[in-house]
Amino acid sequence: MKITKICCIGAGYVGGPTMAVIAQKCPHIQVTVVDLNEQRIADWNNPDPEKIPIYEPGLSEIVAEARGRNLFFSTDVDNAIDEAQMIFISVNTPTKTYGKGKGMAADLKYIELCARQIARVAKQNKIVVEKSTLPVRTAEAIKSILDNTGNGVQFQILSNPEFLAEGTAVTDLLNPDRILIGGDTTPEGEEAINSLVEVYANWVSKNQILTTNVWSSELSKLTANAFLAQRISSINAMSELCEKTGADVNEVAKAIGMDSRIGPKFLKASVGFGGSCFQKDILNLVYIAKSYGLDEVSDYWEQVIIMNDHQKRRFSNKIVQTLYNTVADKKIAFLGWAFKKDTNDTRESAAIYVADDLINEQAKISVYDPKVSKNKMLSDMDYLETRTKEENLKSLNVFENAYEACKDAHAIAILTEWDEFTTYDWKKIYDSMHKPAFIFDGRNILDAKQLESIGFVYNGIGS
Ligand code: UDX
Ligand code: ADP
Repeated sequence: MKITKICCIGAGYVGGPTMAVIAQKCPHIQVTVVDLNEQRIADWNNPDPEKIPIYEPGLSEIVAEARGRNLFFSTDVDNAIDEAQMIFISVNTPTKTYGKGKGMAADLKYIELCARQIARVAKQNKIVVEKSTLPVRTAEAIKSILDNTGNGVQFQILSNPEFLAEGTAVTDLLNPDRILIGGDTTPEGEEAINSLVEVYANWVSKNQILTTNVWSSELSKLTANAFLAQRISSINAMSELCEKTGADVNEVAKAIGMDSRIGPKFLKASVGFGGSCFQKDILNLVYIAKSYGLDEVSDYWEQVIIMNDHQKRRFSNKIVQTLYNTVADKKIAFLGWAFKKDTNDTRESAAIYVADDLINEQAKISVYDPKVSKNKMLSDMDYLETRTKEENLKSLNVFENAYEACKDAHAIAILTEWDEFTTYDWKKIYDSMHKPAFIFDGRNILDAKQLESIGFVYNGIGS
């Protein structure tokens, strides 16, 4: 089937950028992104493309080019489903906070709602594409709902996981390492796979488009994220050993990364990985393995999360210990709140957990992040439910620039690797702080020697 109309349910970090790039590269396809969240859709339709709800380098330019031409944002979910031949499901699949699998399994209620809505509305055959990361065999559940509650039309379910990383979403989408499409091995399944291959073939070479069965595709996404997160936990584990032995984890990472079998990427020791995917996907993997009775497999992967939690806690403990075992009423400046640079996303950001630990020790936190709003930071803290909104408001102050945030601070903690942090006048910051002035560089981005020559007491990760 030649696709001329696509609908995407979910205008979030995955749906928004992915559809913008499909619309830009396929002007002959009408792409409609729908969401229940009216504010989010209004923000995507903001006449000033700089004000769209997601910050990604290069995204506003693409939205400016395609929006109104063949890219549309709407809250009319039924109409968009009805018109489209191909429907992407790109809604959130958070970790369950209740019931069986609480804290581990993916919560599929939003996916199920979408499937039921598609079944109710569709009057012609449709191809339904899973874009959200999902546990293995979700496609089967979607298919069952569609076939049993639909109007007798045919549905083909494809799994097409998204591998983009936030902060580099646009370049990842424009130049993907690979596109993965899983579908049924029946003739109808293969036809559906080909329809989606043809969409991507507008800008991706065909030998980078892999087709597999549905389960392999679903599991490949979880596996890719588990391997990536495992590398970070591995280097973070070594960082603790480096601190004890006098080795420098940056030197170790460089030395092992030159082994072509290991490679240099994803070996940056840090305060711990964050983001919406790694923890959620590994917990998912752990849950699936456990549910098949594969205890050794689930324990193996769970250790990646245990190490990551340890790394975050170790960072806050180090701050407390170094500041003479008390941070009560001391001002600790946080530079960065996002889970990585070049994004305004804060989901599972290490900053949230480090702030929580330090506020428990009665520290006063002052934060500056170039892209994260004060409301977002406060709602991240409220979401933990450790203390009341009023208490969070008292303990967390948000500033418009780093110089203000660091003024009169006892220590600075770098939580996100924003490039601008390396360009500051550190002497000026030092002069405005309590002495001794400490820096805890949770991203190893600053020049330790230069800071020490100014007078700072510098603490990196793993050195
Ligand atoms: C990840 C995967 O990379 C992507 O393929 C998938 O589609 C979604 O999940 P994302 O979470 O957006 O993407 O960002 P990523 O660049 O993977 O970083 C995740 C976290 O790991 C961040 O907190 C980052 O700072 C941290 N990280 C990354 C490290 O601490 N060290 C590294 O060497 C790399
Ligand atoms: P992701 O990072 O996976 O893109 P987000 O939370 O950023 O996750 O985006 C998911 C979006 O899906 C949210 O904007 C949410 O409002 C939307 N959504 C969830 N369920 C539905 C639904 N049934 N219909 C339409 N939109 C939905």
